[in-house]
Amino acid sequence: MTESVRDYLGEAVIKALRRPVLDDARGLPAKVYTDQQFLAMENAHLFPSTWTGVAFASDVPQPGDVMPFELCGIPLILLRGEDGQVRVFQNVCRHRATIVVQAPLTAQSMLKCPYHGWVYGLDGALIATPFWDGTADSHRLPVDASCNGLVAVRCDVWNHVVFVNLDGKALPLLEYLAPMQTELEHLAIDELEVGHREEWTFNANWKLVMENWEVYHHVWVHEGVFDRMSDEVDLRTGEPYTDMIADGNALLLRYKASRPQTWARRRPNVPGQPLPPVRQVAPRETPHSTANAVLPNTTVTINDTAFVPAIYLPIAPGKTLARMAWYFAPGAAQDERFRPHIEKVLDRWLGPTRRFEDKGGIRPQDHHCMELQQRARSSPVADDVKFSTTWEANVRYFQDWVLRRLERVEEV
Ligand code: FES
Ligand SMILES: [Fe+2]
Repeated sequence: MTESVRDYLGEAVIKALRRPVLDDARGLPAKVYTDQQFLAMENAHLFPSTWTGVAFASDVPQPGDVMPFELCGIPLILLRGEDGQVRVFQNVCRHRATIVVQAPLTAQSMLKCPYHGWVYGLDGALIATPFWDGTADSHRLPVDASCNGLVAVRCDVWNHVVFVNLDGKALPLLEYLAPMQTELEHLAIDELEVGHREEWTFNANWKLVMENWEVYHHVWVHEGVFDRMSDEVDLRTGEPYTDMIADGNALLLRYKASRPQTWARRRPNVPGQPLPPVRQVAPRETPHSTANAVLPNTTVTINDTAFVPAIYLPIAPGKTLARMAWYFAPGAAQDERFRPHIEKVLDRWLGPTRRFEDKGGIRPQDHHCMELQQRARSSPVADDVKFSTTWEANVRYFQDWVLRRLERVEEV
Protein backbone atom coordinates (compact mmCIF):
# COMPACT_ATOMS: atom_id res chain seq x y z
CA MET A 1 0.00 0.00 0.00
CA THR A 2 1.30 3.45 -0.87
CA GLU A 3 1.69 6.09 1.77
CA SER A 4 -0.85 8.92 1.78
CA VAL A 5 0.35 12.48 1.25
CA ARG A 6 -0.79 13.29 4.80
CA ASP A 7 1.35 10.54 6.25
CA TYR A 8 4.22 11.46 3.95
CA LEU A 9 4.26 15.13 4.96
CA GLY A 10 2.85 14.92 8.49
CA GLU A 11 0.11 17.08 9.98
CA ALA A 12 2.50 19.74 11.26
CA VAL A 13 3.83 20.49 7.77
CA ILE A 14 0.34 20.68 6.29
CA LYS A 15 -0.86 22.98 9.07
CA ALA A 16 2.18 25.22 8.66
CA LEU A 17 1.48 25.58 4.95
CA ARG A 18 -2.14 26.54 5.65
CA ARG A 19 -1.63 29.07 8.44
CA PRO A 20 -4.10 31.90 7.81
CA VAL A 21 -1.52 34.69 7.91
CA LEU A 22 0.79 34.19 4.96
CA ASP A 23 3.83 35.61 6.77
CA ASP A 24 3.42 32.84 9.36
CA ALA A 25 3.00 30.03 6.85
CA ARG A 26 5.84 27.72 5.87
CA GLY A 27 6.34 26.16 2.45
CA LEU A 28 6.50 22.51 1.48
CA PRO A 29 9.66 20.76 2.68
CA ALA A 30 12.65 20.05 0.48
CA LYS A 31 11.83 16.38 -0.01
CA VAL A 32 8.82 17.13 -2.21
CA TYR A 33 11.32 18.50 -4.73
CA THR A 34 14.02 15.87 -4.38
CA ASP A 35 12.37 12.58 -3.48
CA GLN A 36 11.53 10.00 -6.13
CA GLN A 37 8.66 8.82 -3.94
CA PHE A 38 6.93 12.19 -4.11
CA LEU A 39 7.30 12.31 -7.90
CA ALA A 40 5.80 8.81 -7.98
CA MET A 41 2.80 10.15 -6.02
CA GLU A 42 2.47 13.04 -8.46
CA ASN A 43 2.70 10.70 -11.44
CA ALA A 44 0.15 8.32 -9.95
CA HIS A 45 -2.36 10.84 -8.59
CA LEU A 46 -1.68 14.45 -9.48
CA PHE A 47 -0.95 14.65 -13.22
CA PRO A 48 -3.44 11.98 -14.35
CA SER A 49 -6.36 13.84 -12.78
CA THR A 50 -5.49 17.15 -14.47
CA TRP A 51 -5.21 18.55 -17.95
CA THR A 52 -1.45 18.48 -18.42
CA GLY A 53 0.22 20.38 -21.25
CA VAL A 54 2.38 18.01 -23.30
CA ALA A 55 3.28 19.64 -26.62
CA PHE A 56 2.15 22.18 -29.21
CA ALA A 57 -0.25 21.46 -32.02
CA SER A 58 2.37 23.02 -34.30
CA ASP A 59 4.71 20.13 -33.40
CA VAL A 60 2.57 18.00 -35.72
CA PRO A 61 1.58 20.61 -38.32
CA GLN A 62 0.59 18.33 -41.19
CA PRO A 63 -1.71 15.29 -41.40
CA GLY A 64 0.50 12.25 -40.99
CA ASP A 65 2.94 13.96 -38.60
CA VAL A 66 3.67 11.75 -35.59
CA MET A 67 5.63 12.44 -32.40
CA PRO A 68 6.29 10.06 -29.50
CA PHE A 69 6.50 11.51 -25.99
CA GLU A 70 6.16 10.47 -22.37
CA LEU A 71 3.89 11.63 -19.59
CA CYS A 72 4.16 10.24 -16.05
CA GLY A 73 6.57 7.66 -17.47
CA ILE A 74 3.88 6.43 -19.87
CA PRO A 75 4.84 6.25 -23.56
CA LEU A 76 2.36 8.14 -25.74
CA ILE A 77 1.96 9.16 -29.37
CA LEU A 78 0.90 12.62 -30.55
CA LEU A 79 -0.22 12.74 -34.16
CA ARG A 80 -2.32 14.66 -36.64
CA GLY A 81 -4.83 12.44 -38.37
CA GLU A 82 -5.78 12.54 -42.01
CA ASP A 83 -8.82 14.59 -40.97
CA GLY A 84 -6.52 17.26 -39.46
CA GLN A 85 -7.42 16.31 -35.88
CA VAL A 86 -4.72 16.16 -33.21
CA ARG A 87 -4.88 12.83 -31.36
CA VAL A 88 -3.00 11.10 -28.57
CA PHE A 89 -2.66 7.34 -28.13
CA GLN A 90 -0.84 4.99 -25.84
CA ASN A 91 2.37 4.12 -27.67
CA VAL A 92 1.90 0.42 -27.05
CA CYS A 93 1.18 -2.32 -29.59
CA ARG A 94 -1.83 -4.42 -28.71
CA HIS A 95 -0.10 -7.69 -29.61
CA ARG A 96 2.71 -8.12 -27.12
CA ALA A 97 3.06 -4.55 -25.91
CA THR A 98 5.91 -3.05 -27.88
CA ILE A 99 6.64 0.62 -28.52
CA VAL A 100 5.13 1.39 -31.91
CA VAL A 101 6.60 4.83 -32.66
CA GLN A 102 10.24 5.33 -31.73
CA ALA A 103 11.01 8.74 -33.25
CA PRO A 104 9.14 11.66 -34.85
CA LEU A 105 7.82 10.89 -38.33
CA THR A 106 6.18 12.84 -41.12
CA ALA A 107 3.87 11.95 -43.99
CA GLN A 108 2.65 8.71 -42.46
CA SER A 109 -0.66 7.15 -43.41
CA MET A 110 -0.37 4.36 -40.85
CA LEU A 111 1.77 3.20 -37.93
CA LYS A 112 3.56 -0.13 -38.01
CA CYS A 113 4.80 -2.03 -34.99
CA PRO A 114 8.49 -2.88 -35.38
CA TYR A 115 8.13 -6.34 -33.76
CA HIS A 116 5.62 -8.34 -35.85
CA GLY A 117 4.34 -5.72 -38.22
CA TRP A 118 0.84 -5.03 -36.87
CA VAL A 119 -0.49 -1.94 -38.59
CA TYR A 120 -2.67 0.82 -37.15
CA GLY A 121 -4.45 3.72 -38.83
CA LEU A 122 -3.87 7.30 -37.72
CA ASP A 123 -7.24 7.02 -35.99
CA GLY A 124 -5.80 4.14 -33.94
CA ALA A 125 -7.80 1.42 -35.69
CA LEU A 126 -6.09 -1.94 -36.12
CA ILE A 127 -5.73 -2.39 -39.88
CA ALA A 128 -3.55 -5.46 -40.37
CA THR A 129 -2.02 -8.33 -38.40
CA PRO A 130 0.08 -9.99 -41.13
CA PHE A 131 0.55 -13.76 -40.74
CA TRP A 132 -1.03 -13.81 -37.26
CA ASP A 133 -2.63 -17.11 -38.23
CA GLY A 134 -0.12 -18.03 -40.90
CA THR A 135 -2.00 -16.28 -43.68
CA ALA A 136 -0.97 -12.95 -45.14
CA ASP A 137 -4.32 -11.34 -44.37
CA SER A 138 -5.09 -13.37 -41.22
CA HIS A 139 -8.38 -14.58 -42.66
CA ARG A 140 -8.30 -18.00 -40.95
CA LEU A 141 -8.27 -16.65 -37.40
CA PRO A 142 -8.73 -12.88 -37.58
CA VAL A 143 -7.87 -10.64 -34.63
CA ASP A 144 -10.92 -8.69 -33.45
CA ALA A 145 -10.07 -5.20 -34.67
CA SER A 146 -12.97 -3.66 -32.77
CA CYS A 147 -11.17 -4.00 -29.44
CA ASN A 148 -7.51 -4.06 -30.43
CA GLY A 149 -6.83 -0.60 -31.77
CA LEU A 150 -4.28 1.73 -30.22
CA VAL A 151 -5.72 2.97 -26.94
CA ALA A 152 -6.79 6.59 -27.27
CA VAL A 153 -5.93 9.08 -24.55
CA ARG A 154 -8.18 12.05 -23.84
CA CYS A 155 -6.65 15.16 -25.36
CA ASP A 156 -7.70 18.63 -26.39
CA VAL A 157 -6.03 21.69 -27.86
CA TRP A 158 -6.37 25.17 -26.39
CA ASN A 159 -4.53 28.09 -27.96
CA HIS A 160 -1.98 25.80 -29.65
CA VAL A 161 -1.20 23.81 -26.49
CA VAL A 162 -2.03 20.10 -26.55
CA PHE A 163 -3.39 19.05 -23.18
CA VAL A 164 -3.83 15.46 -22.02
CA ASN A 165 -6.08 14.11 -19.27
CA LEU A 166 -4.78 10.64 -18.51
CA ASP A 167 -7.56 9.40 -16.24
CA GLY A 168 -10.30 10.67 -18.57
CA LYS A 169 -12.25 12.12 -15.64
CA ALA A 170 -11.28 15.79 -15.55
CA LEU A 171 -13.81 18.51 -16.35
CA PRO A 172 -13.92 19.49 -20.02
CA LEU A 173 -10.76 21.48 -20.76
CA LEU A 174 -12.56 24.81 -21.20
CA GLU A 175 -14.15 24.43 -17.78
CA TYR A 176 -10.89 23.27 -16.22
CA LEU A 177 -9.09 26.41 -17.37
CA ALA A 178 -12.14 28.72 -17.30
CA PRO A 179 -10.49 31.71 -15.59
CA MET A 180 -7.77 31.68 -18.23
CA GLN A 181 -10.24 31.39 -21.08
CA THR A 182 -12.21 34.36 -19.71
CA GLU A 183 -9.00 36.34 -19.48
CA LEU A 184 -7.88 35.72 -23.06
CA GLU A 185 -10.98 34.98 -25.11
CA HIS A 186 -11.08 38.48 -26.59
CA LEU A 187 -7.85 37.73 -28.45
CA ALA A 188 -7.50 35.72 -31.67
CA ILE A 189 -4.68 33.56 -30.33
CA ASP A 190 -5.77 30.58 -32.41
CA GLU A 191 -4.85 32.28 -35.67
CA LEU A 192 -1.27 33.06 -34.61
CA GLU A 193 1.55 31.05 -36.16
CA VAL A 194 4.60 29.57 -34.56
CA GLY A 195 7.74 31.62 -35.19
CA HIS A 196 10.21 29.84 -32.92
CA ARG A 197 10.42 26.67 -30.88
CA GLU A 198 12.96 25.79 -28.21
CA GLU A 199 13.46 22.87 -25.87
CA TRP A 200 15.94 22.08 -23.11
CA THR A 201 16.18 20.34 -19.77
CA PHE A 202 17.25 22.00 -16.56
CA ASN A 203 18.16 20.59 -13.18
CA ALA A 204 15.24 21.56 -11.01
CA ASN A 205 11.90 20.19 -9.90
CA TRP A 206 8.94 21.09 -12.13
CA LYS A 207 7.04 22.69 -9.22
CA LEU A 208 9.63 25.43 -8.90
CA VAL A 209 8.47 26.80 -12.26
CA MET A 210 4.92 27.28 -11.04
CA GLU A 211 6.21 28.78 -7.80
CA ASN A 212 7.90 31.42 -9.94
CA TRP A 213 4.49 32.96 -10.66
CA GLU A 214 5.37 36.12 -8.78
CA VAL A 215 7.04 39.36 -9.80
CA TYR A 216 9.09 39.80 -6.62
CA HIS A 217 12.09 38.14 -8.28
CA HIS A 218 12.02 40.30 -11.40
CA VAL A 219 14.58 42.95 -10.57
CA TRP A 220 17.15 40.49 -9.27
CA VAL A 221 16.81 37.79 -11.88
CA HIS A 222 15.90 39.63 -15.07
CA GLU A 223 18.64 42.16 -15.53
CA GLY A 224 18.09 44.13 -18.70
CA VAL A 225 14.43 43.14 -18.90
CA PHE A 226 12.64 43.94 -15.65
CA ASP A 227 15.30 45.75 -13.67
CA ARG A 228 13.66 48.61 -11.81
CA MET A 229 11.72 48.10 -8.61
CA SER A 230 9.83 51.29 -9.44
CA ASP A 231 8.21 49.35 -12.31
CA GLU A 232 6.96 46.68 -9.93
CA VAL A 233 5.82 48.58 -6.87
CA ASP A 234 4.73 52.07 -5.88
CA LEU A 235 7.81 53.04 -3.90
CA ARG A 236 5.83 55.46 -1.73
CA THR A 237 3.08 53.07 -0.64
CA GLY A 238 4.63 49.62 -1.09
CA GLU A 239 1.67 48.60 -3.29
CA PRO A 240 2.67 46.29 -6.16
CA TYR A 241 1.58 47.30 -9.66
CA THR A 242 0.49 43.74 -10.39
CA ASP A 243 -2.68 41.97 -9.37
CA MET A 244 -1.66 38.44 -8.42
CA ILE A 245 -4.67 36.23 -8.97
CA ALA A 246 -5.11 32.56 -8.17
CA ASP A 247 -8.38 31.14 -9.41
CA GLY A 248 -9.15 27.45 -9.70
CA ASN A 249 -6.50 25.89 -11.91
CA ALA A 250 -5.12 29.23 -13.08
CA LEU A 251 -2.59 31.76 -11.87
CA LEU A 252 -2.73 35.22 -13.43
CA LEU A 253 -0.43 38.22 -13.19
CA ARG A 254 -2.31 41.29 -14.34
CA TYR A 255 -0.74 44.74 -14.41
CA LYS A 256 -2.80 47.40 -12.71
CA ALA A 257 -3.76 50.51 -14.63
CA SER A 258 -1.63 52.46 -12.14
CA ARG A 259 1.61 50.89 -13.40
CA PRO A 260 3.79 53.63 -14.89
CA GLN A 261 3.69 53.46 -18.66
CA THR A 262 7.26 54.67 -18.93
CA TRP A 263 8.82 51.27 -18.32
CA ALA A 264 8.04 49.88 -21.75
CA ARG A 265 9.57 52.80 -23.57
CA ARG A 266 12.88 52.71 -21.74
CA ARG A 267 13.98 49.32 -22.91
CA PRO A 268 15.77 48.77 -26.19
CA ASN A 269 14.61 45.19 -26.58
CA VAL A 270 11.02 45.35 -25.51
CA PRO A 271 8.72 43.48 -27.85
CA GLY A 272 5.99 45.45 -29.52
CA GLN A 273 5.40 47.44 -32.65
CA PRO A 274 6.15 47.30 -35.47
CA LEU A 275 5.21 43.63 -35.26
CA PRO A 276 1.58 43.15 -36.20
CA PRO A 277 -0.60 43.00 -33.09
CA VAL A 278 -2.48 39.99 -31.80
CA ARG A 279 -5.95 40.68 -33.17
CA GLN A 280 -8.68 41.55 -30.71
CA VAL A 281 -11.99 39.90 -31.61
CA ALA A 282 -14.18 41.13 -28.76
CA PRO A 283 -14.19 44.20 -26.55
CA ARG A 284 -12.61 44.08 -23.13
CA GLU A 285 -12.84 46.89 -20.64
CA THR A 286 -10.07 46.08 -18.20
CA PRO A 287 -6.49 45.12 -19.08
CA HIS A 288 -6.00 41.38 -19.41
CA SER A 289 -3.29 39.52 -17.55
CA THR A 290 -0.06 39.05 -19.43
CA ALA A 291 1.59 36.21 -17.55
CA ASN A 292 -0.56 33.19 -16.89
CA ALA A 293 -0.21 29.64 -15.74
CA VAL A 294 -2.57 26.70 -16.23
CA LEU A 295 -1.87 24.28 -13.42
CA PRO A 296 -0.16 21.95 -13.19
CA ASN A 297 2.52 22.63 -15.79
CA THR A 298 1.71 25.09 -18.56
CA THR A 299 2.45 28.80 -18.72
CA VAL A 300 1.03 31.21 -21.29
CA THR A 301 2.38 34.71 -21.60
CA ILE A 302 0.76 37.15 -23.97
CA ASN A 303 1.60 40.70 -24.96
CA ASP A 304 0.51 42.98 -27.79
CA THR A 305 2.35 41.07 -30.49
CA ALA A 306 3.36 37.64 -29.23
CA PHE A 307 1.89 34.61 -27.52
CA VAL A 308 4.53 32.69 -25.58
CA PRO A 309 3.47 29.37 -24.07
CA ALA A 310 5.75 26.94 -22.25
CA ILE A 311 5.22 23.41 -21.00
CA TYR A 312 7.19 21.84 -18.17
CA LEU A 313 7.40 18.07 -17.89
CA PRO A 314 9.14 16.30 -15.01
CA ILE A 315 11.82 13.81 -16.03
CA ALA A 316 13.11 13.19 -12.50
CA PRO A 317 12.62 14.96 -9.17
CA GLY A 318 15.53 17.27 -10.02
CA LYS A 319 15.15 17.42 -13.79
CA THR A 320 12.54 19.11 -15.97
CA LEU A 321 11.99 19.33 -19.70
CA ALA A 322 10.98 22.81 -20.90
CA ARG A 323 9.07 22.97 -24.16
CA MET A 324 8.80 26.57 -25.32
CA ALA A 325 7.22 28.24 -28.32
CA TRP A 326 6.69 31.75 -29.68
CA TYR A 327 3.67 32.63 -31.80
CA PHE A 328 3.17 35.76 -33.90
CA ALA A 329 0.55 37.24 -36.22
CA PRO A 330 -0.14 35.14 -39.31
CA GLY A 331 2.68 35.45 -41.83
CA ALA A 332 4.90 37.62 -39.60
CA ALA A 333 7.57 35.00 -38.91
CA GLN A 334 8.10 34.42 -42.63
CA ASP A 335 8.13 38.11 -43.51
CA GLU A 336 11.66 39.54 -43.84
CA ARG A 337 10.45 42.98 -42.71
CA PHE A 338 9.43 41.57 -39.34
CA ARG A 339 12.33 39.22 -38.78
CA PRO A 340 14.58 41.75 -36.94
CA HIS A 341 11.75 42.51 -34.54
CA ILE A 342 11.05 38.85 -33.93
CA GLU A 343 14.75 38.40 -33.19
CA LYS A 344 14.46 41.16 -30.59
CA VAL A 345 11.57 39.33 -28.93
CA LEU A 346 13.63 36.15 -28.89
CA ASP A 347 16.67 38.02 -27.52
CA ARG A 348 14.53 39.19 -24.66
CA TRP A 349 13.30 35.69 -23.87
CA LEU A 350 16.36 33.60 -24.68
CA GLY A 351 19.30 36.00 -24.66
CA PRO A 352 21.38 36.89 -27.72
CA THR A 353 23.02 33.46 -27.94
CA ARG A 354 19.73 31.59 -27.37
CA ARG A 355 21.67 29.18 -25.16
CA PHE A 356 20.46 28.21 -21.70
CA GLU A 357 24.04 28.00 -20.45
CA ASP A 358 24.65 31.68 -21.16
CA LYS A 359 21.87 32.77 -18.76
CA GLY A 360 20.71 35.62 -20.97
CA GLY A 361 17.01 36.31 -21.43
CA ILE A 362 13.98 35.59 -19.29
CA ARG A 363 13.79 31.81 -19.66
CA PRO A 364 17.46 30.95 -18.98
CA GLN A 365 17.52 33.44 -16.11
CA ASP A 366 14.44 31.87 -14.50
CA HIS A 367 15.52 28.28 -15.08
CA HIS A 368 18.99 28.99 -13.73
CA CYS A 369 17.47 30.41 -10.56
CA MET A 370 15.34 27.27 -10.23
CA GLU A 371 18.51 25.19 -10.43
CA LEU A 372 19.86 27.19 -7.49
CA GLN A 373 16.67 26.49 -5.55
CA GLN A 374 16.97 22.80 -6.36
CA ARG A 375 20.58 22.61 -5.20
CA ALA A 376 19.62 24.34 -1.96
CA ARG A 377 17.09 21.58 -1.32
CA SER A 378 19.86 19.18 -0.40
CA SER A 379 20.12 21.15 2.85
CA PRO A 380 17.81 20.71 5.86
CA VAL A 381 17.58 24.49 6.04
CA ALA A 382 15.47 24.35 2.87
CA ASP A 383 12.58 22.94 4.90
CA ASP A 384 12.04 26.43 6.29
CA VAL A 385 10.52 28.33 3.36
CA LYS A 386 8.74 31.65 3.85
CA PHE A 387 6.27 33.67 1.79
CA SER A 388 5.90 37.43 1.44
CA THR A 389 2.35 38.57 2.08
CA THR A 390 2.89 41.36 -0.44
CA TRP A 391 4.13 39.19 -3.29
CA GLU A 392 3.85 35.46 -2.78
CA ALA A 393 0.24 34.46 -2.18
CA ASN A 394 0.32 32.65 -5.52
CA VAL A 395 3.28 30.53 -4.41
CA ARG A 396 1.47 29.26 -1.35
CA TYR A 397 -1.70 28.79 -3.41
CA PHE A 398 0.16 26.55 -5.84
CA GLN A 399 1.75 24.46 -3.09
CA ASP A 400 -1.63 24.04 -1.46
CA TRP A 401 -3.19 23.23 -4.85
CA VAL A 402 -0.71 20.34 -5.23
CA LEU A 403 -1.50 19.15 -1.75
CA ARG A 404 -5.27 19.43 -2.19
CA ARG A 405 -5.21 17.46 -5.43
CA LEU A 406 -3.16 14.69 -3.87
CA GLU A 407 -5.48 14.60 -0.86
CA ARG A 408 -8.59 14.60 -3.03
CA VAL A 409 -7.50 11.65 -5.16
CA GLU A 410 -6.66 9.69 -2.05
CA GLU A 411 -10.10 10.35 -0.60
CA VAL A 412 -11.88 8.89 -3.62
S1 FES B 1 4.27 -6.66 -30.47
FE1 FES B 1 3.56 -5.40 -32.04
S2 FES B 1 3.23 -6.73 -33.65
FE2 FES B 1 3.91 -8.04 -32.09
FE1 LIG C 1 11.06 35.31 -14.05
